[in-house]
Amino acid sequence: MGAKMSFPVVRFPRERVVIVTGGNAGIGYETSKWIAMMGAKVIIACRSEERATKAIETMNTEFQEEKSKGRTDIVDYDQLCVEYMHVDLASLKSTKQFIDAFIATGQPLHVLICNAGVALMPQTYTDDGYELMFQVNYLSHFLIAAHFLPVMKMSGDDCRIINVSSLAESLANFDMETIQGKGASNFGRFDHYGRSKLYQIMQMYSMARRLEGCNVTIASLHPGTVDTEIVQNSNDLLLGRALFAFYKITGNLRTPFEGAKTSINAAVNPVLRGVSGVFYDTTRPATPSRKARNESNQEKIWQYTLDLLKDLLNDDIVSCLEGKS
Ligand SMILES: NC(=O)c1ccc[n+]([C@@H]2O[C@H](COP(=O)([O-])OP(=O)(O)OC[C@H]3O[C@@H](n4cnc5c(N)ncnc54)[C@H](OP(=O)(O)O)[C@@H]3O)[C@@H](O)[C@H]2O)c1
Repeated sequence: MGAKMSFPVVRFPRERVVIVTGGNAGIGYETSKWIAMMGAKVIIACRSEERATKAIETMNTEFQEEKSKGRTDIVDYDQLCVEYMHVDLASLKSTKQFIDAFIATGQPLHVLICNAGVALMPQTYTDDGYELMFQVNYLSHFLIAAHFLPVMKMSGDDCRIINVSSLAESLANFDMETIQGKGASNFGRFDHYGRSKLYQIMQMYSMARRLEGCNVTIASLHPGTVDTEIVQNSNDLLLGRALFAFYKITGNLRTPFEGAKTSINAAVNPVLRGVSGVFYDTTRPATPSRKARNESNQEKIWQYTLDLLKDLLNDDIVSCLEGKS
């Protein structure tokens, strides 16, 4: 593995349940593997069963390699406890089916890592009518967090929601009029990616206010600039390629393991128990843009989101989300 650890390797019982969206690749893969190696049950929620199955096999191979180095800080299970569940975040129907399927298992939920994401996509609208990055990165994760919150509130001490955001938020516009990019003569791919990441941070602040004093905390983070498929998938954009080339040449492009450290630390570090409403830039608490911290903007996007999802959120869910139950 080589790279220095910057999270504590703690020991979890198998009963500690962690969901990582997009746990089959990149940052999510490393996050899932390391949390599973600490003993927790990890559910990787992603689109392709084939890719998920392959990822779980590779995690187990790498787990055996770690064990063969004589490590005593990770579990000595025969196999990691990692399972796949299907979700396509570009579809609210699929997202709701995933939510219902998980709730039907009756399991507790201790950590929800909203990690899956797409970046720098051309102007595309989902079947639900929303801009693709808005829906995949933000809206569907909001729906998941809303429905899982009542489960997490019943799951005992120290439950955590983690939004994997990006410093790209700082370059984005906050403009409720053009939120879906419709009618724009020139759709800004960086801008709309950054907006989706901005809303994840705003959601963190809004939820942290409402969850104050309860067993569920929420954090958000920037993982650094990380060499993952998200880069390859944005390869048709010259600016995207140029930026990543720059990071590579200057030695600032992280491996997926290095990129996962921030998420792993936020999910497992005992010191962060009860710490809510904090944005981490790599492993340091940091201050996101002024617009992300603007409470009036946060409440606007919160209300807008509740309106969009109103047919998928019943009164009990909204009451829990609003911190009233
Ligand atoms: N890499 C960076 O430099 C960087 C920087 C800042 C923030 N981030 C954030 O880090 C997170 C992880 O990104 P990554 O770099 O690890 O990228 P990645 O390797 O491309 O992984 C993205 C994950 O998201 C999943 N995903 C994409 N669309 C989905 C959908 N519609 N439904 C369900 N899952 C979907 C992918 O699964 P499939 O196999 O189904 O495609 C994959 O597992 C993202 O939120 C990203 O915005 C990354």
